[in-house]
Amino acid sequence: MMQNSKILIEGRKRLEGSVSISGAKNAALPELAAVVLSSGKFSFSNVPRVKDIHVLLKALKNIGAEFQLTGSTVDIQLDTLRSGLVPPEIVETTRASVLLLGPLLARHGYARVSMPGGCPIGDRKINYHIDGLEKMGASFRFEEGYIIAEAPRLQAIDFQFPGKTVTGTENLLMAAVLAEGTTTLRNCALEPEISDLVQLLTAMGAEIQSDDPETLVIKGKSSLDGATHCIIPDRIEMGTYVVAGCLENNEIKIENAAPHYIDSLLDILKEMGCAIQVDADSMIVRSCGELRPVRVETEPYPGFPTDLQAQLTTLLTQANGTSQVVEHIFDNRFQHALELNKLGADIRLEGNTAIINGKTSFAGRDLLATDLRASAALVLGGLIADGETVVHNAYQLFRGYENMPEKLQKLGACVKIIDS
Ligand code: EPU
Repeated sequence: MMQNSKILIEGRKRLEGSVSISGAKNAALPELAAVVLSSGKFSFSNVPRVKDIHVLLKALKNIGAEFQLTGSTVDIQLDTLRSGLVPPEIVETTRASVLLLGPLLARHGYARVSMPGGCPIGDRKINYHIDGLEKMGASFRFEEGYIIAEAPRLQAIDFQFPGKTVTGTENLLMAAVLAEGTTTLRNCALEPEISDLVQLLTAMGAEIQSDDPETLVIKGKSSLDGATHCIIPDRIEMGTYVVAGCLENNEIKIENAAPHYIDSLLDILKEMGCAIQVDADSMIVRSCGELRPVRVETEPYPGFPTDLQAQLTTLLTQANGTSQVVEHIFDNRFQHALELNKLGADIRLEGNTAIINGKTSFAGRDLLATDLRASAALVLGGLIADGETVVHNAYQLFRGYENMPEKLQKLGACVKIIDS
């Protein structure tokens, strides 16, 4: 996939049939980073074949890991660490580099990791990660775009996160499993990807208890084993296809899903008047006439996820009346709104709130994908636009959605990738 490829969408095709959900990118990233904690053999199944994962695998190879990727299975082992260096050319677009900090310090006592990239969706601080690791005994220097950290054996801490952080919780958890003593992490994030990481670490021999879900108590070990682990379904991909099913006159079945991960989205869609049939691991979503406007606020899990805010905004342009979307997690996550307006949407931004007047009809245009979830929102916009929509910066989509054009084509959409 070329860096400057585009997605071409011929809109207004009915979507019907079934789509299968891939493994969760944001579970696979910390879980692959956890390989650094052990010299044992790992086998991961349901690994999503997306750019961010390939980037992390490259970073792991750089520090000495050997892996084999077969379909959606990754067999991987990091027997001997070659170096604690994670250079920027490997991780410039993902948050993956910061997830290597805790594991590298815990097992190797040294990490030289490029400053994390990821989506340009606002100021993405890592001060809680650094504070926690410093309290565990690590010292930090910042030089020419690198975080350089050193530590003797990490020591257990009792640490309260000042605010909810997903990768911060994961990082300190991965540091604590090899620290000396028993660590207590308080005010931990509750995302399902963290529970999945706890499951993997437990299979590796870690001792993690949580009587209250926001508090993790971790008894440090001197070494850990490899493990076999199946990655949970991607709740953001799932939510994106649910939104697609609610558009126009579509009817789609979403398979290999975990519907309870997106209860917050399903509640909002019900409030809008959408018809969704939920089973244990699948959903049938069909559009049903008039959509009602709603007010939505993004929150840490189990609240409505910021990672589905852009996609839901596309659907809200099709509701009759004025909706509001309030973004509480990131300070620059409305870039898709301006692009949706080019298609014909009526979205006004007031601080951290988007005010969406619907229903508006869309006509195809050239659009710019500014970040991963924005790119999905624009593709959804293209699906309901008259004529042809071109989404530039297609690589954003491929960072986190496995085969989205192919999956949409199978449902009846007309979507093509143009490499230029
Ligand atoms: N924050 C701090 N200090 C910290 C850490 C976070 O102030 O040390 C603030 C951030 O600035 C932000 C908020 O806390 O305002 C939440 O940030 P968090 O650390 O939870 O985000 P993240 O761990 O960097 C993960 C996902 C994101 C997702 C967010 C929120 C991964 C690899 N990334 O990021 O996923 O949006 O949690 O749920 O798990 C995506 O997949 O498209 C994506 C951006």
